[in-house]
Amino acid sequence: MKKKALLVLIIILAVIQFIPALPESSPEPQSSLLVRDDMPEDVQSILQSACNDCHSNTSTWPWYAHVAPLSFWIGDHVEEGREHFNLSEWENYEPKKKAHKIEELVEMVEEKEMPLEKYTWMHSDAKLSQEQRDVLIDYFESL
Ligand code: HEC
Repeated sequence: MKKKALLVLIIILAVIQFIPALPESSPEPQSSLLVRDDMPEDVQSILQSACNDCHSNTSTWPWYAHVAPLSFWIGDHVEEGREHFNLSEWENYEPKKKAHKIEELVEMVEEKEMPLEKYTWMHSDAKLSQEQRDVLIDYFESL
């Protein structure tokens, strides 16, 4: 009986691998904040390593992101992240929306709510120093 249950589990795990779970990634569009000519290099590099995977359309996936059921969980986070704040769509935001996102960003980066802790467990280069947090905040406050 135990063997049968294990077999069923293995089959389920194999089948769910075929369910698409990760949102698509596309090249950085013109509307992206990341391709602006006046984007300072240090800000770009912080955004790239700590925010991009969840807050742009150019997410890169580590191998384990493709493994279900982990892929469902990661896919949901990225979809939610992109919906709330998307660097690739930045120039399409109305001025009022930009101002609101900047306010949220400053608060979340200051309070260390972003990047999400569960992300920095696996991406140690996304752990931000106080100095890096200040660089990010100063930049967004200057926009
Ligand atoms: C692992 C994915 C992930 C990473 C990495 C991440 N975020 Fe988020 N972020 C989210 C999710 C999911 C939400 C929406 C839910 C919430 O507010 O917790 C969010 C919300 C936000 C919001 C709020 C937008 C709003 O309107 O409420 C801002 C601003 C933000 N993130 C900025 C950042 C910045 C800046 C970084 C990098 C320093 C970052 N995030 C890194 C997933 C992520």
